Amino acid sequence: MNVTGPQTTDARLVHPVDPGRGPWHRDAVIYQVYPRSWADADGAGVGDLPGVTARLEHLVELGVDAVWLSPFYPSPQADAGYDISDHRDVDPLFGSLADADALLARAHELGLKVIVDLVPNHTSDEHPWFAAALASPPGSPERARYVFRDGRGHGGELPPTNWSSAFGGAAWTRVVEADGRPGQWYLHVFDRRQPDLNWDHPEVRADFEDVLRFWLDRGVDGFRVDVASGLVKDPAMPDWHGPLRVQGVDADGRPHPARDQEGVHEIYRAWRRLLEEHDGDRVLVAEAWVADLDRVARYVRPDEMHQAFNFAYLLTPWRAADLRHTIEESLRANDAVGAPTTWVLSNHDVVRHASRLGTPARGGRMTGIGADDPQPDGPVGLRRARAATLLMLALPGAAYLYQGEELGLPEHTTLPDGARQDPTFARTGGAEKGRDGARVPIPWEAAGPAYGFSRSGQSWLPQPREWARYAVDAQRGVHGSTYELYRAALRLRRERHLGRGDLRWLDAPEDVVAFGNGDLVVLANTGDRPVALPDGTEVLQASDDLPGDGTLPPDTTAWLAG
Ligand code: GLC
Repeated sequence: MNVTGPQTTDARLVHPVDPGRGPWHRDAVIYQVYPRSWADADGAGVGDLPGVTARLEHLVELGVDAVWLSPFYPSPQADAGYDISDHRDVDPLFGSLADADALLARAHELGLKVIVDLVPNHTSDEHPWFAAALASPPGSPERARYVFRDGRGHGGELPPTNWSSAFGGAAWTRVVEADGRPGQWYLHVFDRRQPDLNWDHPEVRADFEDVLRFWLDRGVDGFRVDVASGLVKDPAMPDWHGPLRVQGVDADGRPHPARDQEGVHEIYRAWRRLLEEHDGDRVLVAEAWVADLDRVARYVRPDEMHQAFNFAYLLTPWRAADLRHTIEESLRANDAVGAPTTWVLSNHDVVRHASRLGTPARGGRMTGIGADDPQPDGPVGLRRARAATLLMLALPGAAYLYQGEELGLPEHTTLPDGARQDPTFARTGGAEKGRDGARVPIPWEAAGPAYGFSRSGQSWLPQPREWARYAVDAQRGVHGSTYELYRAALRLRRERHLGRGDLRWLDAPEDVVAFGNGDLVVLANTGDRPVALPDGTEVLQASDDLPGDGTLPPDTTAWLAG
């Protein structure tokens, strides 16, 4: 195989070295904790903040820089806490404000940064503002904080637009007015219990700035901004004739009228100014499911947010040509605005990559897996997942990990339908299984109750029987375990400053992603045949044991000393 070393002249530089003076987030590894499924301290079967605090050492042992916490605010839990009724408190399910303070203090003591979720696109239907809107007449100031419209048709019986909810079904629900008659409709791009806020309303803007200050003053290091591309709607509210999924564009290249509108950027400029009034390097991270990488990069221009999730990378199949393309485009688009590129393979909204990559499509977009669907190939999925992670952790920029991926945890693909809680399942009549399979509480102890998740043995979603082998205590110190692979890779990444490094493509066979970062050479074989390793190189880390005959097997990544 012709892998040219980093010193060769035909290596093509794609991304230069980051001089390393910038703030912490530029090369951080950020671990997503989904609080309801991480650790349950009170035995209720749902994880909580004291559970998170008690297990923070795990993150230090793993070697990450920061933790992002999914929502723990008061909520009726219609969308697992992404339906918030009070942005300035903690749901009793998860603990108290004092518990949040204790978590922050302990994390900082351990040298971990803490990012919290901010959900500005919508509130819960139990938010006092929405209760007031329902109790007030059409045209009232109370309704103006949300998106209420009269219906179409003779009696207003048709929704104001043809928009679909991201969870299936219509994006509008009709209310019953005080006189008992059917009345106006309100917009909910997600569940009907998540009414969209009206971001043209000054009170909405002022309130969220206050929410930001509330958490900044408590010491958080940043915010992951939920549905960041959705806050502002096209005022003309036209019908939509593009793909069902709202992140697409129509035949004329226009985004959905509830997505990626120009007006949204001014909100983030204001928030950036607000963050800069506070000490420390606090960050804003965009969850913007926008397909075009240049459009995503607009959210991380110098006066807007600091990072945006790279969902294009998450959706890229395990195929060298596709990976090379996405990596290059990601670096190009972000370098053009001076922002760090981020990398991510899993989160609470997608099929875990240890399962996703074990399907015939080798990844891509999926909407959950059920017992009656074709099942992913577990061993192949895990092998590819380990290789994909080792490739990701060698890329310059910041990386996001999702709880449990360091254990090689697969999706729970045979959850009984009756246990499913994601509103997507009900709203699509079961056509989409939804996201519960990625949200099952994680195993800590092979022999513990609920695998150490909860001392009561309860778990809000059932854990598969075979998960004992994935438990942290079954993998710690075990050569070749996924947990030890993550630890070793994170240690090398840190020692070699890979997150601040450069990226140079190296010559390699078509099925191999080959690049240099500093004096490291990275080879990922996505093909189905072994390829020869360059002569005489030292293997620093491989995603699986190498055969020792000088080859790199299929679905394997190796880090070589250059
Ligand atoms: C984001 C969250 C997802 C949630 C949705 C609505 O995409 O990640 O879990 O359902 O927003 O808040």
